[in-house]
Amino acid sequence: MSRGRRKIAVIGAGNVGATCAFVLAQKKLGDIVMLDIYEGFAKGKALDMSQDGQVLNYDGNITGTANYEDIAGSDVVVVTSGFPRQPGMSREDLIGKNAEIIKQVGEGIKQYAPNSIVIMVTNPLDLMTYHMWKVTGFPKERIIGQAGVLDSARMTHFVAKEVGCNEEDVQAMVLGGHGDTMVPLPRYTTCGGIPITQLLDEETIEAISKRTAGGGGEIVKLLERGSAFYAPGSAAAIMAEAVLNDRKRLIPASAYLDGEYGLNDIFIGVPIILGANGTEKIIELDLTENELSSLQGSADFYKSQLTDILGY
Ligand code: NAI
Ligand code: 2OP
Repeated sequence: MSRGRRKIAVIGAGNVGATCAFVLAQKKLGDIVMLDIYEGFAKGKALDMSQDGQVLNYDGNITGTANYEDIAGSDVVVVTSGFPRQPGMSREDLIGKNAEIIKQVGEGIKQYAPNSIVIMVTNPLDLMTYHMWKVTGFPKERIIGQAGVLDSARMTHFVAKEVGCNEEDVQAMVLGGHGDTMVPLPRYTTCGGIPITQLLDEETIEAISKRTAGGGGEIVKLLERGSAFYAPGSAAAIMAEAVLNDRKRLIPASAYLDGEYGLNDIFIGVPIILGANGTEKIIELDLTENELSSLQGSADFYKSQLTDILGY
């Protein structure tokens, strides 16, 4: 017997949250509730999106609220609430303000959607994902951070342009934290199954890796207010879809490590299998000494911030 329509809550109806909701609606994944501290903002965007139902051919209910009771029974909660970067700011500059927001949101999720799977987007991503895990007390598999889908999509775009092939044929892999220390992996990035190390010279690959790591900052600088949202919102929606449809996607995402890659008690970007139970498996890649030390360096950076700034 059908258990009825699925429910997805999107916390934060700003640029990323609204984009995510819009993609979810078009994928017909279930009813969507957007929650924001500004009730009218969430309600207005929900009504606007609802009025696109006929044009874009979707059928779920889209509602807006400022009340956590309305997220009750959500299968998936996507968390985008928080301040975005402005020019000159790093993602880490957002820690203090966003940690307070995540505490409040995490308590709401714990109370009203205790069985949900949480996809984190708020920056600094890996730290806020850890913080959400602590605030909710949910099993580690049920909290996952969105970074790798976006970062590898950015790398994919740059690779496709250089190789001159369709983006669909590129598979990129980016590990580590969602920040300057991220670790693009050219050896595990392929076009039509061919490693890019056989298609592009070292200098070009180095430039692609650098541009990928600075991908968010490049857009912040261009926009002059706020940060990227189309690709980030879609990336979060793709992760929600993987959970709701138990798609067993093998993607990089921020997951809790318990010894994998020699790392403990941290959320950081690694390849995972994402399905109905959240993080169903962590894939341990065979890394060179350099690749592994870059991943560990990225983890050390966030570990010290978890302790020094968030007090974990
Ligand atoms: P935005 O400013 O457009 O939207 C944020 C929304 O959160 C606003 O509507 C605001 O009213 C709401 N909000 C603030 N406090 C809240 C609370 N306590 N409860 C509920 N809602 C609250 O910002 P944008 O561009 O949507 O970015 C959101 C977050 O996502 C930022 O922290 C940004 O850095 C992060 N981000 C992360 C990415 C990733 O790959 N992980 C990529 C892009 C953005
Ligand atoms: C991005 O990568 C700022 O995290 C945001 O676009």
